Amino acid sequence: MKTQLIGAIDIGTTKICSLIAETDGTGLRILGIGTAPSNGVQKGQVVNIGEAAQAVSNSVAAAEKTAGCRVPAAVISVTGKHVTSDNKRGVISITSNRKQTVLPGDVRRLLQISRSENISPDQAVLHQIPRYYRVDGQDGVKDPVGMHGYRLDVETHTVWASINAIENLAKCVSASGVKIDCLVFEPLASGEAVLNEDEKRDGVLLVDIGGGTSNIAVYKDDSIFYSAVVPAAGNQITKDIAMGLGYSPEFAEELKLRHGSLIPPASLPNKPRQKAGEQEMPPGELFDIINIRAEELIRLIILQIKNDFKDLIDPVTFLPAGMVLTGGTANLPGLVEMAQQITCMPCRVGYPARVAGIADDLCDPAYAASLGLLIWKLQNPDIRYHQQVSPAKARKGFFSRLMRAITGK
Ligand SMILES: Nc1ncnc2c1ncn2[C@@H]1O[C@H](COP(=O)(O)OP(=O)(O)OP(=O)(O)O)[C@@H](O)[C@H]1O
Ligand SMILES: [Mg+2]
Repeated sequence: MKTQLIGAIDIGTTKICSLIAETDGTGLRILGIGTAPSNGVQKGQVVNIGEAAQAVSNSVAAAEKTAGCRVPAAVISVTGKHVTSDNKRGVISITSNRKQTVLPGDVRRLLQISRSENISPDQAVLHQIPRYYRVDGQDGVKDPVGMHGYRLDVETHTVWASINAIENLAKCVSASGVKIDCLVFEPLASGEAVLNEDEKRDGVLLVDIGGGTSNIAVYKDDSIFYSAVVPAAGNQITKDIAMGLGYSPEFAEELKLRHGSLIPPASLPNKPRQKAGEQEMPPGELFDIINIRAEELIRLIILQIKNDFKDLIDPVTFLPAGMVLTGGTANLPGLVEMAQQITCMPCRVGYPARVAGIADDLCDPAYAASLGLLIWKLQNPDIRYHQQVSPAKARKGFFSRLMRAITGK
């Protein structure tokens, strides 16, 4: 296959990361990386279009400079409390042909019907991922095309987002002169970058803890089973340090990055009193502040999962592959051990898979979502932004086709 350029823009609360890559349809070669501080984004959502658009443009310009070429279109990350998801079921009867064989058109019809059910006019379907099909009650079918049967069922993991939030995001991207290829919910992107096939099959919990949001994805039986956003993450720890110790947010962030740890100070050999700038501070105080907030954050994430996901009676048995942490906050020393202790699940930091090109900087959990956007696109080449954005348009299309079929016009 001929190589082509693809782009990704990960619009986060603390940073915007743009990537330009070359692909032959299977592999990736990173040509350009541009990271810029985020602005006008709160808890994953655009709150100031002008500021956010400028930050996106800065990041795109930096990526184009390193790549020496323009980014034609980009896969964009979506997160924020406006994103919701559920596992939906749909059913149709197979009557379209004499042999009672499932045709690709039947699958399309089934997905279209289950897609347009109970959707509010202010929401768009971001993802409709078939988990499995059932043909005449036979479970666990991954591809029903060609099978014989009278009844076709599907269970999909469907993700919705607020159309207004998406349009605000789209304005910021358009201002940088980049076309939107498609939108991807952030934890699904991170999952593609750091999870292996065995983990997705056995059951695994991925949590991307960024600056403003913690993005959750549970995989089971080779597909996505649950996803959610908790609007709290690493910035909360920084705020606590600033408030608790009377520092500016900038200095508190610097302190956290330089000295922040969940490893008790007593267990650090001969740890001297830490010096941060001109101010001296006992390590115990910083440890206590970070420890309290990080524990609360992990408990909040687990609580959200248990509230939404009533089937998860025993996460340890249901998710034997354990927990994988990504996002910048996964770099906090001791977080994995804390998560392991609270959840009693095995836990690891998710480092993005190595790819060719100038990708050294991407081997950090903070870049899992950014790289994952490109990997997700390779695996879902046919999904396009215009199909994702407007459920009203999609419904209109469906009904106008139905009317045309009835009236013959
Ligand atoms: N070594 C570290 N120790 C503690 N926190 C860290 C470390 N490195 C990065 N962080 C924190 O990670 C957060 C940024 O993570 P990330 O880049 O994944 O966020 P984002 O994608 O911009 O935001 P979001 O996805 O929440 O919208 C910041 O709060 C930062 O302080
Ligand atoms: Mg992020």
